[in-house]
Amino acid sequence: MQKAEQYDLLYRQLAALLEGETDPVAKMANTAAVLHESFGFWWTGFYRVTSHRHSGFDPESGELILGPFQGPVACMHIPFGKGVCGTAWKRGESVVVPDVEAFPGHIACSSASRSEIVVPVFGPDGKVVAVLDIDSDKLGTFDEVDREGLERIVGLL
Ligand code: SME
Repeated sequence: MQKAEQYDLLYRQLAALLEGETDPVAKMANTAAVLHESFGFWWTGFYRVTSHRHSGFDPESGELILGPFQGPVACMHIPFGKGVCGTAWKRGESVVVPDVEAFPGHIACSSASRSEIVVPVFGPDGKVVAVLDIDSDKLGTFDEVDREGLERIVGLL
């Protein structure tokens, strides 16, 4: 099956699975599971924008905190504008990184990660409420097909 077809199928499966569910964490958890299982990614998960305060927290900008995911243990806090995730949040747009070593400021949660895509999740007011982060252990895994497919899928959240 072509990747675009696979995304279309997953979109329809997730639309049915998430229909009527209002809890954002439950929806993110099953979205991460479906994507991770279907494509066999290295790491698939969400970081949520939070204003929760802890030592070292920057109240000016807030930060991303680890949310539902599938895969190995990951970093728990990512500042605004930092790493691929913080950059996607700041720009309010998806970021595709074919080679993480070539992305200045990339946050290496795992040395096995070689390429990455981060897609923002928007709330009803148009602000970024979370990001979907997917890592691959191979170079150049993600392209425009992934970006389009994943942007459509996060629209279900
Ligand atoms: N590499 C990400 C950090 C999150 S982990 O990959 C799960 C980044 O640079 O934002």
